[in-house]
Amino acid sequence: MTKKRFLFALAGALCGVVGMQSQNKLTVNANEGKSVISKHIYGHFSEHLGHCIYGGFWVGEDSPIPNTRGIRNDVVKALKDIHIPNLRWPGGCFADEYHWMDGIGPRNQRPKMVNTHWGGVVEDNSFGTHEFLDLCEQLECEPYICGNVGSGSVEEMSKWVEYITFDGESPMSNLRKQNGREEPWKVKFWGVGNENWGCGGNMTPDFYADLYRRYATYCRNYGDNRLYRIAGGANSDDYNWSETLMKKVGRRMQAMSLHYYTVPKTWRDKGSATQFDEAEYFTTIEKTLFMDELVSKHSAIMDKHDPEKHIALAPDEWGTWYNVEPGTNPGFLFQQNTMRDAIVAGVTLNIFNSHCDRVRFANIAQTVNVLQAVILTDKEKMTLTPTYWVFWLYKAHHEAALLPVTFVCNKYEINGKKIDAVSVSASKDAAGKIHISLVNIDPNNSQPIDCELLGISAKSVSGQILTSEKINDCNTFDAPNTVAVKKFEGAKLAKGFLSMSLPSKSVVVLEIE
Ligand code: AHR
Repeated sequence: MTKKRFLFALAGALCGVVGMQSQNKLTVNANEGKSVISKHIYGHFSEHLGHCIYGGFWVGEDSPIPNTRGIRNDVVKALKDIHIPNLRWPGGCFADEYHWMDGIGPRNQRPKMVNTHWGGVVEDNSFGTHEFLDLCEQLECEPYICGNVGSGSVEEMSKWVEYITFDGESPMSNLRKQNGREEPWKVKFWGVGNENWGCGGNMTPDFYADLYRRYATYCRNYGDNRLYRIAGGANSDDYNWSETLMKKVGRRMQAMSLHYYTVPKTWRDKGSATQFDEAEYFTTIEKTLFMDELVSKHSAIMDKHDPEKHIALAPDEWGTWYNVEPGTNPGFLFQQNTMRDAIVAGVTLNIFNSHCDRVRFANIAQTVNVLQAVILTDKEKMTLTPTYWVFWLYKAHHEAALLPVTFVCNKYEINGKKIDAVSVSASKDAAGKIHISLVNIDPNNSQPIDCELLGISAKSVSGQILTSEKINDCNTFDAPNTVAVKKFEGAKLAKGFLSMSLPSKSVVVLEIE
């Protein structure tokens, strides 16, 4: 060990032991990347809920809003710019009440239904299977379809798979052709129900596990379309649900989902998206960090039954959930999105990266106009939220090798409670470039960081930053660039050692060559 390295390690260790606020010490092992960060960790979710589908993605072919076959061009472009890898549809709770045959054929002949979960509004089924798969083709992303286990039937789900993916002569493929689509689509990702412990049927884990086995049997692989079946997993810390599925379903599933939302206060009064004090900010981040414990504990159960990690853990609903914006339909879950949400996104994605050997799929809830949306629309207007920009910055991690880090980090403290002030994740891409994503959670203090890069002789560093003056700053249709990405000038390389200062409440991604 060189003298400089020794002093670096010693200073870090001492600060850690005595809890001193000083330079944070980060070490990145650039030549030890083993697991790949799947791009599918960066997935999104679109439900027939509020203005996610209608108004968000779908405006119809006759709309004056620029569209391609009824799908908004501005939204498609924005999502392609963040390299959206997969899109989950049609729910959520809506999935377990959805009957896909109502959403095919001539649009003016499709039956209407009531969306009982979300505002009791009329669903006219004008956006169905063909429209969703057209959307995914325009987005160049993989579709992820969630089947109806709660109120549907095995036959219905089995026929949906056949309708979409069978390349041959069959009742369902003939129907697809009659409806204008000659070639089958490739759809790999299928959810077998959603929240079957709750809105998806209020089942016990044993009952669902048995039902899963039955449904999954009749979801067939047609041709080379190999299905990746995602079982409806646990609600937050329901470890018994995971234990039961791992025991009874095992490798009949390729992934098991997990749902966890960050709710700052209580489910009855969740807190406002934009009006919160520092204590509520702290609680929001503390609750977000709980994702790390959840993923670790569910993974430990999975490790017992599947030590080779064949089955992925898929947190396919995550994000912040606040009270709806005043004056909006309570069933539409419309909320604004601030710099606080960007911090939540950065921290959560760093957690998923760090567990990428098991977490290989995830979906933030939801893409447009619902919960922690990356895009907000109002008729022809569109704005990109602070959360959007985190996904834009983190593209650098898609399919890159996770690099192990050690980090001795200052604490962010309030009312006697402490959390780490900085969250970090590092990866190496196929071209050998290293990216480090850093989130300074502390809303008051900048964080200086010394960083040692093992295994490379770094020649240059550049970076980009997302921050804003106030933690509750947001982007609106009139002021869309209040929270925007800028060039980061605060990192320096000297003799192979990297040093930087992260402004308070910021998300930074560095690129090192
Ligand atoms: O994302 C909103 C809802 O939250 C989903 O429909 C459901 O799965 C979850 O409870």
